[in-house]
Amino acid sequence: MNNHLENLTILKLGGSVITDKSIQNQADTKTIQRIAKEISRISIASTPLILVHGGGSFGHPIASLYQIHKGLHSSSQKIGFSKTRSAMSNLNKIVVDIFLGEDIPVVSVQPSACTITSSGRVKHMDLEPTRSLLQFGFVPILHGDAVIDLAQGIAILSGDQIVTYLAKELPVKKVIFGTNVDGLLDLNKKLIPKVNNENFETLFMFAKESVASDVTGGMLGKLKEIEPLMKEGVETIILNAKKPGIIEEVLKGKEVVGTYFTQR
Ligand code: IPE
Repeated sequence: MNNHLENLTILKLGGSVITDKSIQNQADTKTIQRIAKEISRISIASTPLILVHGGGSFGHPIASLYQIHKGLHSSSQKIGFSKTRSAMSNLNKIVVDIFLGEDIPVVSVQPSACTITSSGRVKHMDLEPTRSLLQFGFVPILHGDAVIDLAQGIAILSGDQIVTYLAKELPVKKVIFGTNVDGLLDLNKKLIPKVNNENFETLFMFAKESVASDVTGGMLGKLKEIEPLMKEGVETIILNAKKPGIIEEVLKGKEVVGTYFTQR
């Protein structure tokens, strides 16, 4: 891996940021546009970037309707699997086109075409295309997806799990989870600004499932993915990507409002 990848950063844009979760298949194009503009002001050469996006109102309702995350139990789920896949490609196309409009050299890497899971966890993901894209200065863009699963036939692979996998396999320096809340909130809805190995365990009780239609576990699912990142020493931040300017600031290395996960 080339030296210029030393600042490699992964930005996950949650479904709650890029879609209107209350209306099925409704993208929040204004927010995507604003974030794309902010990213266009970052030098990809000095801060190489991988983008990952969630499913929001494109992926979750259809996956939930056909219970894709529970595995293949009836042949009537097959059309639901294909529709979930297709919905994710539709959302991905919207995101990609907006980023291209800002001259950001994004290239889609479709997770279902390069990943096999087992019991919902990544068993194999072909990272060669992503690695090469990074080396040539592109911005690979992946997303949560419906995938084939060795143990249960089909599964939902969350964008969060993709982030964790990429951070384990690539020399990732920083991971940013863009959500629609300021970070991890305590029981009084107060922001928890810093998390480390010592206070991590107590946090699970704060992370209630965010919404019923979320097939990948909401904030609790996110915390489970963040735990290994924190232990590996990858700086991880949960922040509110709906806030204008925050993505640009965090990518420029500024301290922002959010929850910072560090080893100590
Ligand atoms: C979910 O991905 C993908 C599908 C439901 C197909 P995520 O779990 O990353 O999506 P969000 O961010 O919660 O919407």
